[in-house]
Amino acid sequence: MPTAVVTGAARGIGLATAQTLHAAGWQVALTDVDPLVAERASALGAGARGWAADVASAPDWQRLVGEVREELGPVGALVLNALATDVTPLHEMTPESWQRQLDVNLTGAFHGVRACLPDLREGRGGVVIVSSVHAHFGLPDVPGYAASKAGQTGLTRQLAAQYGSQVRVNCVTPGPIRTAQWDRVTEDQREHSAAQTALGRLGEPEEVAEVIAFLLSEKSSYMTGATVAVDGGWSITKDSA
Ligand SMILES: NC(=O)c1ccc[n+]([C@@H]2O[C@H](COP(=O)([O-])OP(=O)(O)OC[C@H]3O[C@@H](n4cnc5c(N)ncnc54)[C@H](O)[C@@H]3O)[C@@H](O)[C@H]2O)c1
Repeated sequence: MPTAVVTGAARGIGLATAQTLHAAGWQVALTDVDPLVAERASALGAGARGWAADVASAPDWQRLVGEVREELGPVGALVLNALATDVTPLHEMTPESWQRQLDVNLTGAFHGVRACLPDLREGRGGVVIVSSVHAHFGLPDVPGYAASKAGQTGLTRQLAAQYGSQVRVNCVTPGPIRTAQWDRVTEDQREHSAAQTALGRLGEPEEVAEVIAFLLSEKSSYMTGATVAVDGGWSITKDSA
């Protein structure tokens, strides 16, 4: 079976994606800065392995891809999901924090695609970048996150145009999904965000994972360069009295 590399796979959408792909028959390389990723992979069983690695580090990518090839075979799919964010207005944000968000969210995708591209081209594989509705909508206090998420959608289109039929590249823009990211807000704030969606609830990580698995499957064979909202209709509703 082909091998999928999933970044940020110790928890949340990344872990759900690794589990969904594994259940669909992929071999899965889970990777995260959090060493817990090894346990997560063991829990999946045969055909899953965990690697501690920082997506912002080109040497980490070289090591990771070398070891994945040795243990699981060539990389057939890449899910770029790892996340750095800082909820701080621009006038209070340090240059170091801004840079780290770009390094993880955007330059991490650059390093990841560069490291996996020979295998992906050879095997006519696929890439999915996990962006956010913040790529398209202006919400306060997340300048580094929003800028890097918008960069990811641009990079998706560029890569799809560049590599054509060799590598399909698509992007998802989740809305409010119930992960550890939502632990920092109150229940009232979660309910407010849920009410902003057409479906009236937060999404579950598995609901994003299923769309990612579809985008990596032959069922989406005529899709590339697309940005697919998985947001419960958050982006099509607007409040008005
Ligand atoms: N949860 C949401 O509401 C939501 C909404 C829109 C978009 N997203 C996107 O979904 C993706 C996953 O978000 P989540 O909510 O599951 O987050 P999460 O915080 O639950 O998981 C993110 C994972 O990324 C890992 N990580 C952080 N820095 C890393 C690095 N340098 N290298 C490797 N791994 C690293 C973390 O250790 C963590 O396991 C992100 O790209 C995020 O922007 C999430």
